Amino acid sequence: MDRNQFITAFAAAFDKISENTKYNFQNHCVRTAFIAVRLGELLKLPRTDLYDLYAYALLHDGGVSWHDSKFVNGTPEERLIAKKNHSENGEALIKDFPFITEHKDIIKYHHSNWDGSGPFGLSGNAIPVFSQIIHISHKAALLYAMRLTRKEVSDAIEIERNGKFSPTLCDAFAALTSNPGFWVSVSDSFINDTASYPIITDEKSQLSLEQLIPIAKIISAITDSKSAYTENYSASLGEKATVVADFYKYDDEHKTKITLAGYLLDIGKLSIPSSIEDKPGKLTDDEFATVKSHPYYTHLILSKIPGFEDITVWASNHHEKINGKGYPLGLGGDDLSEESRILAVLNVYQALIQPRSYRMSLPPEAIANIFNEEIANGNLDERITKDILSIFNK
Ligand SMILES: [Fe+2]
Ligand SMILES: [Fe+2]
Ligand SMILES: [Fe+2]
Repeated sequence: MDRNQFITAFAAAFDKISENTKYNFQNHCVRTAFIAVRLGELLKLPRTDLYDLYAYALLHDGGVSWHDSKFVNGTPEERLIAKKNHSENGEALIKDFPFITEHKDIIKYHHSNWDGSGPFGLSGNAIPVFSQIIHISHKAALLYAMRLTRKEVSDAIEIERNGKFSPTLCDAFAALTSNPGFWVSVSDSFINDTASYPIITDEKSQLSLEQLIPIAKIISAITDSKSAYTENYSASLGEKATVVADFYKYDDEHKTKITLAGYLLDIGKLSIPSSIEDKPGKLTDDEFATVKSHPYYTHLILSKIPGFEDITVWASNHHEKINGKGYPLGLGGDDLSEESRILAVLNVYQALIQPRSYRMSLPPEAIANIFNEEIANGNLDERITKDILSIFNK
């Protein structure tokens, strides 16, 4: 599996990361990646660099904090601190990503200004070139999403010559945007088709299912950071899926697949607006229907990945119930494989052991009682529930 093809499947989800800010961020990450690769080509970077630059650009906003409204609304000082935090979070997030080339601190410095006025005070060519490219690409993508005209976008970049951006990159941006095709390529209608990356022959670009796990962990961290109540949720669920696979003596490939499904099953949660996800009171029927759509969103994302046929089904069935009363499809017991049932039980278990705003995490006896009820109501598989409690609920 090509590494960049894998992460591209999640582009639509990454674009939801920034939805709580005031702009329309549709296609922000993929548009940033497109512009970055084109600028990298103009700067004549090697193909392996372009391949990694694409991944950095697609992931550049992974560290956006959902709860840091100061990022947009704060005073200049508060915004600088928010940018610093966001850059450091983003850098920490991707530390285990399997990049091919040796580049350092790219995300950490992606808001650095050429004149040294940005976070961390780095200036000029001390700022890594990749960071410089992502900065200008991000800015152009943002301006585009604000529905500015071509001239307004170009002028807004040019005015930052020697300020935010280097003369070299301003020249490259001017050359890129002088091509009328550029503006068609970045439009919402075509950006998902045009944002390609160079296919390279380096064998490190091809990852086995097992080698996708570190990336799945990064994606789980992005998912989990969306709400204060989901901290470490899918990360812990993925780890537990591995333990259960060992308990049932699954072979390595089988274990890897259910682990990946565990890490990725809630990726669709990024599609739920934070106002619903974090709503303190009871949800309206309409809001609850939105929440219930998240496993289907997971299905749409994972089904784009070759070789993920089983993983897609298992992951997107994690809210289905044996009695057919689950969601999103209301499948019955006959449709639910052992793997789907395991993930459904782990999903309930993980929710019960996580603290909520209105309660602490529950003690083992309370959890056992709730699971007995779940079995009695025909929601969860009895054998698997008992096995999973025997492993974790001590
Ligand atoms: Fe950023
Ligand atoms: Fe961005
Ligand atoms: Fe879920």
